[in-house]
Formats: sequence, structure tokens, C-alpha cells
Amino acid sequence: MRLRFLTASLAVAGLIGACGGDDAGPAPARAPSSDLPASMQAVLSRRCWDCHGETLRFDALAHLVTRRDLLTKPAGRGGVAAPWPEAATRAQLALHLMRFAEDPMPPAPRELASDDERATWKAWVDAGCPGAADAGPDDVGCDPFDTPVVCTSGATWQLSDPLPEMNPGRNCVGCHSVSGGPPLVVGGTVYPTAHEPDDCRGADGAPGVTVEVTDAAGTLYALPVNRVGNFWLKTSDATGFTPPFSARVRSASGVREMTTQQKDGDCNACHSKLGDNTDKAQTKKAPGRVVLP
Ligand code: HEC
Ligand code: HEC
Ligand code: HEC
Repeated sequence: MRLRFLTASLAVAGLIGACGGDDAGPAPARAPSSDLPASMQAVLSRRCWDCHGETLRFDALAHLVTRRDLLTKPAGRGGVAAPWPEAATRAQLALHLMRFAEDPMPPAPRELASDDERATWKAWVDAGCPGAADAGPDDVGCDPFDTPVVCTSGATWQLSDPLPEMNPGRNCVGCHSVSGGPPLVVGGTVYPTAHEPDDCRGADGAPGVTVEVTDAAGTLYALPVNRVGNFWLKTSDATGFTPPFSARVRSASGVREMTTQQKDGDCNACHSKLGDNTDKAQTKKAPGRVVLP
């Protein structure tokens, strides 16, 4: 606890020091390995990586190192006087924040990014947020949901697979209720990209991926994600579960959070291959699969 406090005050000293330019200023950020074009890395390393690099300076901070980090939906800001503008990705939010009068990024007392630096960033977004020059043609597009239908793992569920790895992508809760599977309140699959077919194995959750579901009573259920992306909550383990709930996916690179609340725990029913949720009386379509941050 004491150590944590010390680190926090050092970070604040670093902020102030950056203005005075004395020894208390931030240590030069080690250039992290990034798949972004050199022009973007130059802006990030000069203005952002002190705080948003491989080593984060504040508890609540996001890494802004890889293309995926920038294309993740912002976590949002709760309970602060100046709420940030809505933006689909951190890359787009950053464009606003670099010129956000009330509370810009980098934060005061640091110097704002220059017009040239902001123009570099904007040109990158306008070009479709491409990866570094040697990246493949798939690494273009600012919208993480604007991707082709693909089974990223290249592997399909087999009948001989262990039960918890069954039917990735299909409607877990619905099938269990009619087929004699143990009753579930929540079930679904996390995928690396937005449009993956049924029975395609999803994202490997081993490196600490969790799906957090918070019910109307405020109880948080942190569900582990297995090696084919499946997660579930059995009714017998959540007898007091009260819809509606909110949901988010958390991994080392960030958080993806559903802004609306839902009553139906059958995540894949809405988050289907195309996100068309045809079998649900829901006007607002899900954007596609539940995807990794
Ligand atoms: C001195 C430290 C510091 C620097 C330098 C800095 N930031 Fe931040 N940034 C923060 C903090 C702290 C937050 C969280 C603030 C909050 O939630 O109120 C944040 C949050 C953000 C977020 C929101 C992330 C999310 O998922 O909600 C974006 C985007 C962002 N910063 C972009 C940038 C960019 C781009 C730069 C460089 C041009 C930059 N920041 C430089 C400290 C910094
Ligand atoms: C086609 C219908 C069907 C679908 C789709 C389906 N299940 Fe099942 N599931 C079953 C049945 C039936 C069983 C019980 C099988 C048995 O006991 O031999 C079962 C068993 C399980 C078990 C083992 C439970 C235990 O501990 O005994 C888990 C975990 C599970 N399913 C998770 C899921 C998840 C997660 C999904 C969605 C990604 C899913 N299932 C989709 C029918 C289905
Ligand atoms: C009735 C349909 C429906 C169900 C069921 C549903 N969702 Fe969603 N989900 C949506 C819609 C619509 C959006 C887009 C708007 C929003 O963010 O609320 C969304 C967005 C999301 C996002 C944010 C995607 C992004 O933009 O990054 C996540 C994460 C998510 N849902 C997870 C889940 C999980 C986990 C479950 C199951 C516990 C679930 N959803 C169940 C409809 C649904």
C-alpha cells in the first residue's frame, strides 16, 4: 500500500517536473515495440509514452502502444466534471483530447501536442489507421468491427472436444434450456475479430481474459474465458442473479464495455457472426462478436 502511494506521488512529481524541467521530470520512456507506422510512434514517444507506454504511470491508464490499443473502444470516464466526447476508438478520442479545452491530453501542465503532431495523427486516422509499412493488407481500417468473415484460429469444434469447449459461437443458454445441458444464466464466446463463424474456436483466454457481468443487484461475476473463448455462468452458481446486467471484456490490453444493459444472458444470440441477432426482439443490432479489447 505504502509503495503504491509512493509511486503515485512520484508520478505527480513527474507531471509537475515536466513543466519545470528539473530532475524530478519523468525518466525517458523506453521505446516499446509497436506495430504502428514510424510517424505515429514519433508522436506517441514524444507526447504520450511517458504515461501510456509499456509501463503505465497511473493505475487507471490504458496502454497506447499497439494498433490494437488505439483501436480499442475507450473505457470512458465516470464521475468527472468534464466528460469526454463519445468516440468509437481511443485513436478518435485522442484527436478530440489533444484539443480538449477543459482537460486535454497530454494533461496540464504539459505542453499540448503541436498542430503538426495532431495533423500526423489525423492523417493516420483518415488513411484508415494502417499498421506499419510491412504489415499485411488486413491491418487497415479504423473500425475493429469492419472486418471480413474469418475463422482466425483456423480450427473448428470437434465432437471429441471437452464439454466446456463445445459449440463456440452458438447460443449456449438457449440450447442448454432445451437440450438438457446444465441451465446457464450467461454463456458466450470471445473472438479475436468481429465476424467469425459458428463453431470456429475463439480467442485463447489463458492470458487472463475475463468477462465481467454485473447484475441489477450490483453483484459482479468475473467469468474466466477458456482456450476456445467460451465463458459461462451456471444458474446453480448464481441463484440470486437479477437482470438487467452490464457486461465488459477485460484483458491485458484493455477493456471493451457494452454501453447498454441487457436482460438476456445468451451473448452469442445477439453477438452472432454478423451481429444480426435476428431471433431477438431488439432494434439495436450488436456490432458482431464479443471481441477481445
Ligand atoms: C502525464 C501523463 C499522461 C500523458 C503524457 C498522456 N496521458 Fe493520456 N491519460 C492520462 C491519464 C491519467 C488518463 C486517464 C484520465 C481519466 O480517466 O480521467 C489518460 C487517458 C487517456 C485516454 C483515454 C483512454 C481510455 O481508454 O479511456 C486517451 C485516448 C489518452 N489518454 C490519449 C493520450 C494521448 C494521445 C497522449 C499523447 C498525445 C496522452 N494521452 C498523453 C495521462 C497521460
Ligand atoms: C447444441 C446444444 C448446445 C449448445 C449450442 C451448447 N451446449 Fe453446452 N451442453 C449441452 C448439453 C446437452 C450438455 C450436457 C452434456 C453432457 O452432460 O453430456 C452441455 C454441457 C456443457 C458444459 C458442461 C457442464 C458441466 O459442468 O457439466 C459446459 C461448461 C457447457 N456446456 C458450456 C457451453 C457453452 C459455453 C456454450 C456456448 C458457447 C454451449 N455450452 C453451447 C448442449 C449445448
Ligand atoms: C439483446 C442483444 C444483446 C445481448 C444478449 C448481449 N449484447 Fe452485448 N451488445 C449488444 C449491442 C446492441 C451492443 C452495441 C451497443 C452497446 O455497446 O451497448 C453490444 C455491445 C457489446 C460490447 C461492446 C462492443 C464494443 O463496441 O466494443 C461488449 C463487450 C458486449 N456487448 C458484451 C456482451 C456480453 C459479454 C454479453 C453476454 C453476457 C452480451 N454482450 C449480450 C447487444 C447484446
